[in-house]
Amino acid sequence: MDIKAVIFDLDGVLVTTDELHFAAWKALAEELGINGFTKADNARQRGVSRMASLEVVLEKTDRKFSNEEKTALAEKKNNMYVKSLSGLSRSDVLPGVFEFIEYIKSKGIKAAVGSASKNTPLILEKTELADKFDAVSCGLDTTRSKPDPEVFLIAANKLGVAPCDCAVVEDSDAGIEAAKAGGMYAIAVGAAAHNPKADISVKDLESLYKALSILA
Ligand code: BG6
Ligand code: MG
Repeated sequence: MDIKAVIFDLDGVLVTTDELHFAAWKALAEELGINGFTKADNARQRGVSRMASLEVVLEKTDRKFSNEEKTALAEKKNNMYVKSLSGLSRSDVLPGVFEFIEYIKSKGIKAAVGSASKNTPLILEKTELADKFDAVSCGLDTTRSKPDPEVFLIAANKLGVAPCDCAVVEDSDAGIEAAKAGGMYAIAVGAAAHNPKADISVKDLESLYKALSILA
């Protein structure tokens, strides 16, 4: 295997924003009278688009909503979420991320982002990650949500690297499936660790970086 590029998911892989998504969806659920919106429900929102995430919330109520109402609910959640990003900074980058990116770059391996989030540019800017990547592919580029591989294939294309030479780092089951559907090597972290479809599983990027750097 000759990995030429690593494509990183954003929420829950590079930055702690997965927790802020959860808080905003939970607040929206409560406004809709849904009180039992749990971390287990939130796990199914990982990696998938904003509208697909909304459907996970709406499954928990018998109320029916028109497409216009759904769009308004998704916008409401996004407004709460974006508000919660106001204090986001470099300190919200997950452990080992800066070190791991520097490490792969020193080996001549390219780095890209592949995220469903339409807030990707804002988050990269606020966390001082924006200039660390050779390419960014996000919800603003795609028409299909993970587990479709589109977001990763766009990233590979922007990098000029063949999909089979790319590794994806993901914390969602949908993202691991997307990586494999795109013919890429899949590294599972955090919530996706131990997904049987992943090629390898690690606790987080810090442990992967430590393991690699002692061997280098
Ligand atoms: C993914 C998150 O990274 O982005 C999902 O894991 C989220 O939970 C999706 O729904 C879309 O994000 P945004 O910021 O465009 O609403
Ligand atoms: Mg994620």
